[in-house]
Formats: sequence, C-alpha cells, structure tokens
Amino acid sequence: MAEQKATNVHWHEGDVTREDRNKLLNQKGATLWFTGLSGSGKSTVAVALEKALIERGKLTYRLDGDNIRLGINKNLGFSAEDRAENIRRIGEIAKLFVDTGVVTLSSFVSPYREDRDLVRELHNDGGMDFIEVFVDVPLEVAEERDPKGLYKKARAGEIPNFTGISDPYEEPLQPEVVLNSHEMSLEEEVELLLNLLEERGLLTA
Ligand code: ADX
Repeated sequence: MAEQKATNVHWHEGDVTREDRNKLLNQKGATLWFTGLSGSGKSTVAVALEKALIERGKLTYRLDGDNIRLGINKNLGFSAEDRAENIRRIGEIAKLFVDTGVVTLSSFVSPYREDRDLVRELHNDGGMDFIEVFVDVPLEVAEERDPKGLYKKARAGEIPNFTGISDPYEEPLQPEVVLNSHEMSLEEEVELLLNLLEERGLLTA
C-alpha cells in the first residue's frame, strides 16, 4: 500500500454531505468493479449498463483501463508494482465519484486479488458499496475473441507480462456477481446488474 508522505494534512468536511448529493440525484453512489481477462467483456457490459442507467435517469460514469492509462495513469506500465498503483489510484478516483453520488463502473483487468481487496477496503472504510463483478470466461474464449489482437502479439512474444499468457490472473474468491459473458446475453447481464442495484436501494436516495 502507498505510504502517506505528506504530514500535517487533515480531511476537511464541508457543509454539504454525501446524503445531500444523493437526495439531489435521487440515487446513491456505488462502485461496480468489473474484473477479468482482457477480452472477457468487462467494457462491453459496462458500456451497455451505462446506457441503461442513463435511460433510467441515473447518473453514471465509466472508468476504463485503456482510457485511464491514456491520462492520469499514463506514467504506469504493466509490472506488478505499476498495476498495483494503477488500481490504487482508480480506487481512490472511484471513491470520489461515489462520494459525489455517481454509480461508478470501473473496468480494469485488475489481476491481483490484493489490489482489488485494497479498493474494497477503501470503500468499506468510507461506508460505500463496492460490488465486485467477475467477468469470467475461459482464457480460450478471450483469446479467440482477441478484439485488439493483443493475444496474438503476446503469443508471438511481442508483449511481455500479458495477463493470462505470461502474467497471472488471480480470480476473485467471493465476488458479488459472476458474469459468464460467453453463456449469457448482454441484455441478461445488464438486467441482472440493474436488479442488483435496485435491490440494494442504490437507484433511489
Ligand atoms: S491492470 O492490470 O492494471 O488492471 P488495465 O485494465 O489498466 O490493466 O489495462 C489493461 C488493458 O491494457 C488491456 O485491456 C489491454 O488492452 C492493454 N494491455 C497492454 N499490455 C497489457 C498487458 N501486458 N497485460 C494486460 N493488458 C495489457
């Protein structure tokens, strides 16, 4: 875990609370954390869920591996240390969005259990919902899909530390949701997640 470097710094509460923002939006912030192999379908589900939520008048925002790595995390690669820092930063960003009241959809390979558990802890400490969604497909399926042609390159030895090929993926032990995107339709997946958000009371203030 990153150490606290700055000293003499303290959290400063304002006069507006998280509940005030929730009321304004008539929803509660939460993080849905999609994890799985590259090509497992994390972003596809997140994109479809984002659309469905907006159609229902619910504010949502997607944090996505490739996008975040082009911006705030452009200085990070794919070593275990860099992935840990990638996930730690995303976890903190997700927390800020949740505090704002937004249903936050984070899709990152996030292959290390410890890194994901840290984000869960960050949310728990802040009294926030963290819903781990394991997008679980066999490696052969992801490799067959190979939407970005990266598995082919990784097999040819052109991408070091490629998750599933030359780097590990540690499956979640107790995810809140498992989506087998090769056996379920996208509509089924979206409905399942919408129902879950509703059951948890997150789609009202
Ligand atoms: S994570 O492991 O740190 O969570 P993240 O989700 O941000 O990864 O980025 C993964 C994306 O970067 C993949 O979808 C893929 O497009 C691309 N990528 C490039 N190199 C690698 C690699 N070595 N391992 C995994 N993904 C990679």
